This record gives sequence, C-alpha cells and structure tokens, in this order.
Amino acid sequence: MPAILFVCLGNICRSPLAEGVFRHQVQTARLAHRFTIDSAGCGGWHAGELPDKRSVAVAQAHGIDISDQRARQIHLDDFDRFDLILGLDRDNVRHLTAMQPQGSQAKVALYLEEALGTAKNVPDPYYGGTADFEAVYHLCEKAGAGLLKALTNA
Ligand code: 4NP
Repeated sequence: MPAILFVCLGNICRSPLAEGVFRHQVQTARLAHRFTIDSAGCGGWHAGELPDKRSVAVAQAHGIDISDQRARQIHLDDFDRFDLILGLDRDNVRHLTAMQPQGSQAKVALYLEEALGTAKNVPDPYYGGTADFEAVYHLCEKAGAGLLKALTNA
C-alpha cells in the first residue's frame, strides 16, 4: 500500500491540487483503501491555512472539494512515513533531497517525471492568474492518471 506525499513550496497552491486530484482519481477507481495520500510544503509560512482560494475554486469547478485541507510543513518523520515523496518542481526536489535523513527508504522524485516521464516542473501559480491555476489543475489531472496507472499496472 503506497503512501504518497506531494510537496510544493507553500502547500497552499499546487500540492493541495495534486493531493485532491489524485485522491479523487483513486476514489473513482475504488482504490482508496490501498493508498495513503497527503501533501506538505517545503516552507511553513502558511501552516494551518486553507488552500489558496484560487486552488479551491479551480478544484471546485472540476467537482473536487479540497477545502478540508490545511497547509503543513514537511517534517523529517515524513521520510519514514511515506514511500514516495513527489516534488512539484525541481527546487522542491532539491530541498527534499537535501533534508532526507540517512537510512530513509522513501523515493524522492519530480512529480511529472515520475508520473509521465516528462522532466518538467509544475509551475508556481502564486503570482499568476486563473489560467495558471487551471494549467496546474490539468497537469495534476494528467500526472495523477499516469501515477495511478504506473502504481496499479492498469
Ligand atoms: P505553492 O505556491 O508552493 O504551490 O503552494 C506558493 C505559495 C506561497 C508562496 C509561494 C508559492 N509564498 O511565497 O508565500
């Protein structure tokens, strides 16, 4: 049963969407019992906050409710609790790799590379507009489907 953690910078824009979309895909496939899914931020500035309103809105527009999520910062324990820790961009992956404790068996990878074989970032939409959040949503949808397929050999 894989435990998967999605990590971006603030855990309010991208990784809440990655978590919410993947959770929805797993539930639709009736595989929720087989996965642990969570998200976190490299930084803790937004800890305890709801996802960004624009992420909540784009998810809602696609029938997914992410308003129950609360931001948190990645913690060293996460490297023991999760099998797969997916950075949404390369800076996130660098941060994760640097903090991974010796002996941790978790695989740290770039999300789109792991899911789709495309070594690209999910761009930070924080200073962008609605179209940027929509683009993040669609990347998460494609990547989530690819990840689920890869993990279930479907
Ligand atoms: P996220 O977006 O990493 O996708 O959650 C950001 C959220 C907050 C900030 C930057 C990016 N910030 O600078 O506070």
